[in-house]
Amino acid sequence: MTLCIAGAGALGREVLDVAVACGRYREVVFCDDALAGQTVRGVPVRHPDEVADAEFVVGVADPSARRSLAGRLRDRGLGARALVHPAATVAPDTVLGAGCVILAGAVVSSSCLLGVHTQVHYNATVGHDAVLDAYSTVFPGANVGGACHLGADAAVGANATVLQQRSVGAGAFVGAGAVATRDIPAGAIAVGVPARPRR
Ligand SMILES: CC(C)(COP(=O)(O)OP(=O)(O)OC[C@H]1O[C@@H](n2cnc3c(N)ncnc32)[C@H](O)[C@@H]1OP(=O)(O)O)[C@@H](O)C(=O)NCCC(=O)NCCS
Repeated sequence: MTLCIAGAGALGREVLDVAVACGRYREVVFCDDALAGQTVRGVPVRHPDEVADAEFVVGVADPSARRSLAGRLRDRGLGARALVHPAATVAPDTVLGAGCVILAGAVVSSSCLLGVHTQVHYNATVGHDAVLDAYSTVFPGANVGGACHLGADAAVGANATVLQQRSVGAGAFVGAGAVATRDIPAGAIAVGVPARPRR
């Protein structure tokens, strides 16, 4: 089977590492509007409107770009697949949505629910019973506590912590290094320790 990684930029190359480490795919290609026709790390880059007969995963961090690429490929009849690096740990009863990406060193604990096209980056942790809605992102080294809820398109920045049972509203961003001790409202950018929404 062929895997198409949508987005041939920095995260796309990191997702390529996951695909290679998994060893599941006979062929890997990128698709990317801007880089179509080129090769990236020896892998051909196609135009998203020309990809066929492949499973796909999106290698783009920005949630709206991720959503748009996923929609285009889905409309072409391609199926999204979750991709987990063999050096990551995902509890057996945790459910990963289609297109979910888990990078090396990440740990996703028991009974979590990760929505479609969510991403958990290097060395991040997601505690037991957490729910990550579609297109949310946990950046490198961040810790999302047990039973937390990340709304759609929410992001937790590098090395930030969300205390257990807190929620990060849809589209909100917890800045790098912040500690979210309270719920973060939808759309807010919250920074600092304790994290406070920026004015
Ligand atoms: C919170 C964040 C999204 C804000 O981005 P932004 O809106 O572009 O912010 P700016 O860089 O314009 O900074 C605006 C102000 O917020 C401050 N600020 C930005 N990020 C901050 C953070 N994480 N903690 C504390 N203060 C922060 C800046 O110092 C600046 O303050 P000033 O106005 O007094 O100079 C971003 O800084 C961040 O933390 N992103 C996470 C990055 C990450 O995890 N990347 C993973 C890559 S692998």
